[in-house]
Amino acid sequence: MQKFAIRHILTAALLLAAPAFSQTNPQTDPQTNTTLLVDIDHRPATSLDGDWHTIVDQYSTGVYTLHQELRKDGFFMNAPFDPNGHPQDYNFANAPTLRVPGDWNTQRPELFYYEGPIWYEKDFQHTAAPNTRTFLHIGAANYRTLVWVNTRKICEHEGGFTPFDCDITAALHDGNNFVVLSVDSTRIADGVPTLQTDWWNYGGLTRDVSLVEVPDQFIDDYDLHLSRTDRSVIEGYVHVASAPAGTPVTVTIAELHAKVESTVDANSRAVISIPTKSLSLWSPENPKLYKVEISSGPDKIEDTIGFRTIETRGTQILLNGQPVFLRGISIHAEAPFRTGRAYTQKDVDTLLGWAKELGCNYVRLAHYPHDERMTRTADRLGLMVWSEIPDYWALQFDNPAVLAKSKQQLSEMIRRDRDKASIVLWSVANETPNTEARTKYLTAMVDLAHQLDPTRLVTAALLVRTEKTATGSNKIVDDPLGKALDVIGTNEYIGWYEQHAEGADTTTWDIRFDKPLIMSEWGGDAKAGNHAPSGDTHPALWTEEYQAEIYRHQIAMLNKIPQLRGTSPWILMDFRSARRVNPGLQDNFNRKGLVSDQGVRKQAFFVLQKAYKDRTLGKAE
Ligand code: GCU
Repeated sequence: MQKFAIRHILTAALLLAAPAFSQTNPQTDPQTNTTLLVDIDHRPATSLDGDWHTIVDQYSTGVYTLHQELRKDGFFMNAPFDPNGHPQDYNFANAPTLRVPGDWNTQRPELFYYEGPIWYEKDFQHTAAPNTRTFLHIGAANYRTLVWVNTRKICEHEGGFTPFDCDITAALHDGNNFVVLSVDSTRIADGVPTLQTDWWNYGGLTRDVSLVEVPDQFIDDYDLHLSRTDRSVIEGYVHVASAPAGTPVTVTIAELHAKVESTVDANSRAVISIPTKSLSLWSPENPKLYKVEISSGPDKIEDTIGFRTIETRGTQILLNGQPVFLRGISIHAEAPFRTGRAYTQKDVDTLLGWAKELGCNYVRLAHYPHDERMTRTADRLGLMVWSEIPDYWALQFDNPAVLAKSKQQLSEMIRRDRDKASIVLWSVANETPNTEARTKYLTAMVDLAHQLDPTRLVTAALLVRTEKTATGSNKIVDDPLGKALDVIGTNEYIGWYEQHAEGADTTTWDIRFDKPLIMSEWGGDAKAGNHAPSGDTHPALWTEEYQAEIYRHQIAMLNKIPQLRGTSPWILMDFRSARRVNPGLQDNFNRKGLVSDQGVRKQAFFVLQKAYKDRTLGKAE
């Protein structure tokens, strides 16, 4: 049996697919022993970012014996090496380091193509305050992570783009401690995503890692949003982990002179309802955020939250009750200039800065939840967000264990960002095959998204059928998944994978749903600086001129679609993909960016910018 299959089965044995957050207290997944503390980036924390000792472990020697049994003396023991002692095959103290956060592929040339397990070790000092718990917070780790503290197995997590928190209180000593993690980026058939992706499989601890100390009874989750039925009322709940029924909770929004008290029920959840006066609603034109203080007993946290409603009415999308058109762009979490997985505030400011420069009021964060800095910054800049989980292409839609993984990632995505006003759309999938198993799987995902968050819209990026007509072609949007969605997303590549740019002029759209439509992807590749001879009326593919042609014809076509309520062309910036290996043109990059990875704005950037600034693309009603 193939090497990684064996490793995958054994790790799967360690990593039973995780159901959504249980009603336990705190809300920890009993199988993985992970939870997710909301607003953790606003809590005081001890950062563990920086250099970590690492061991590349292609054969998973650190976990398994030569007969593939789980080792008792694995690398997680972090045993000090004694040259005169029992022969030992590893020694973290002398091992090279990798920077955290950061993917490993762009840190060392020999790791550029590496997919597999790498061990991380970090020593840290800690003295616990009385009546507290300590969590190890991991912003994201791609793809499967096993965690030990002081040789004690603590938790595990599967999924490369959502955070997880592990209670390490019981394993800690006052003084010297160490944490050892194994992060395995191997792509797996029953993974989410699965084997094929058109983005680079950056591995490692790709987002912040820290220690967070909280009181024994602490606020681990809350939802505060504007009521759709009365836009002067902020409603929701606050969950206080380990709090007995009757425990008081206070929510204060000083700027609104609003302060409410409530008490938790038997599930440690307090219902919140705050009547307000002169609330300034969040919108791209007015990205108003309020400082919100939530306290319960010894615990207190602060957040900055915007309040707005988002809903549909027929084929319209309504923001705060008003029809809106989503002028957008798709974005991958590829770091501008330095490349690699994006995570710094600078990465975020550059990417969203370019989106604002384009004239966007919306961004599609593809195809996985991006760093929380991205959604926090979108809140501040007034950019509406489409946030997605990597149910991408051909998952094992008939495998219940895979469905559980998708549900876990959806729950984590919604839990982390449910209080971000910028997020208006949860997307459960991209370009999935129209099969019965797929439709059943994703309909269950849409239902879960609505159950977890009835205040937002649920969408997916669908493939479209094409029929030749006497005058051109007809695009038919009738994917059965559309029935379950609030907003229909469709991807098309007229002018690139199909037809020539002019083909858009003779393409009609037959949309079988009376719902808002977002053209979630369209575009074509161009290598920045690759130009057609001047005056060339038929510029060649891969030139900036041809990409600009695609945009011009697309904009004209899109304006002929009555229920079009948004668009997010593919894509803001060139990004790395192992599927793109055409030398001299691609060199492991998908070149459909309007900006190159080195910040060069291509001609099409200005075509779209003009349409957005002049408001000549799309209508809100
Ligand atoms: C698809 C897919 C993207 C991909 C793009 C492309 O539509 O959703 O992930 O990168 O097409 O082919 O460039």
